[in-house]
Amino acid sequence: MTYPRELIDPIIAKNNEFDLEGFVFGNGDFSPEIMLIGEAPGEVEIRTGVPFTGRAGKELDKTLAIAGLTRDQVYITSVVRSRPFGHKTKIDRAGHTVQKRPNRLPKPQEILLHAPLLDYEISQVKPKLIVALGGCALKRLIDNKMTISASHGRLWRGPIKQLGADGKYEASPQDYTIFPTFHPAAIFYNRKIESDLIADWEQLKEILASKSY
Ligand code: URA
Repeated sequence: MTYPRELIDPIIAKNNEFDLEGFVFGNGDFSPEIMLIGEAPGEVEIRTGVPFTGRAGKELDKTLAIAGLTRDQVYITSVVRSRPFGHKTKIDRAGHTVQKRPNRLPKPQEILLHAPLLDYEISQVKPKLIVALGGCALKRLIDNKMTISASHGRLWRGPIKQLGADGKYEASPQDYTIFPTFHPAAIFYNRKIESDLIADWEQLKEILASKSY
């Protein structure tokens, strides 16, 4: 998997205008039928350079296994390729002031900055099925008004959003099949979704087995 430098370099250069750090490439060959799209890397991924290698990654591996999939059967990437960080001041136990840079959701301008990368990957992978991991991917691909709670676990088919020459999103000429489900980290904040999340991946297993996508 290679990306043209002329695509990446201007994006990395512009990261400085935002609170974005590091860069994580998508993982896998440009050949699998299934593409997984997350939100943005966290601290661990910025260090390892591999998507979903932190806490959320362990959850992702469990759910992939439910669907009978392994990482080498899928292409994994995210909406934003650099880590969006916030600023927090904390007082540690010794009473010292410590500056923290916690992960945060990517902002619309950051999603727009990284949009050509995701468009490029989708154009190269030509996935038969895209698993949108969480609301960020779902909104970026289909519609800002869509929510995971209302659409998870069911196939959606239609044109997706891609960046046009005028720098605005437009509908892709071709249709894609999207399977929306929860972001693997969602379970850390809301244990109640666990049974729905497992049911989604069981459902995905059936969809894959019956090739109904
Ligand atoms: N969340 C993502 O969307 N991607 C990662 O690589 C890690 C967490």
